Amino acid sequence: LVLHQKQGRLQNKHVVISAGGTVEPIDPVRYISNRSSGKMGYALAKAAAEQGAQVTLVSATTTLSDPIGVKTIHIQSAQDLSDQMMAALPAADIMIMAAAVSDYRISEPAVNKLKKQTSGQLTLTLVENPDILAQLGAMKKEQYLVGFAAETQNLLEYAQTKLVKKNADMLVANDVSKQQVGFGYDTNQVTILTKNQEPQVLPLQDKLSVARKIMQKISEVIN
Ligand code: CTP
Ligand code: CA
Repeated sequence: LVLHQKQGRLQNKHVVISAGGTVEPIDPVRYISNRSSGKMGYALAKAAAEQGAQVTLVSATTTLSDPIGVKTIHIQSAQDLSDQMMAALPAADIMIMAAAVSDYRISEPAVNKLKKQTSGQLTLTLVENPDILAQLGAMKKEQYLVGFAAETQNLLEYAQTKLVKKNADMLVANDVSKQQVGFGYDTNQVTILTKNQEPQVLPLQDKLSVARKIMQKISEVIN
């Protein structure tokens, strides 16, 4: 393992990866989240460590255990994730936003458990969360920034727009309406978009294989 790491293409690189689905509290016992399993982000952390990188994983909820040899920080909300990623940016060489960030949070989470309403309905007010990838894109200097896009339609068009709008260097797009692709599955089928190259369509394969190909491609463009 040590020999492998010394020969890795990402030695001396600090890679920071977010993973999992953020959790936005409603009250002390309830929350809003999403179907992210964290598998893709954890696979990326493993693949980066294999290539000799120093890896920090900022993990929202998942049932996975911390990858060996990776500094793992556990967070809950999009705001927590934003704080950690912004703090990690200056010392990072590569940043990857694989987390499924809740676009909205409850505007004022209740301090006490909400009681059932007599009216038969409950209205929650949601406010928009910071767009962390866009924040990183606005703040970055030499860092190589990677985002993901989960779409159910117009995959390449939407992903291309995100690449440009958020000032990312690479965007990994997956069509989550397909079977075996993305949320929860062990496999993924992605298309890699970069600023200057043609989209690269990868075949359906397990997430660790996808992660290794993504890390490989990053190491080729940064070295
Ligand atoms: N992302 C982020 N902060 C957010 C929302 C998304 O950093 N508040 C990141 C995700 O981690 C991902 C990329 O932005 O790397 C694209 O996320 P996605 O949900 O596909 O796109 P959005 O910009 O949120 O647009 P929409 O959900 O409307 O498609
Ligand atoms: Ca979103």
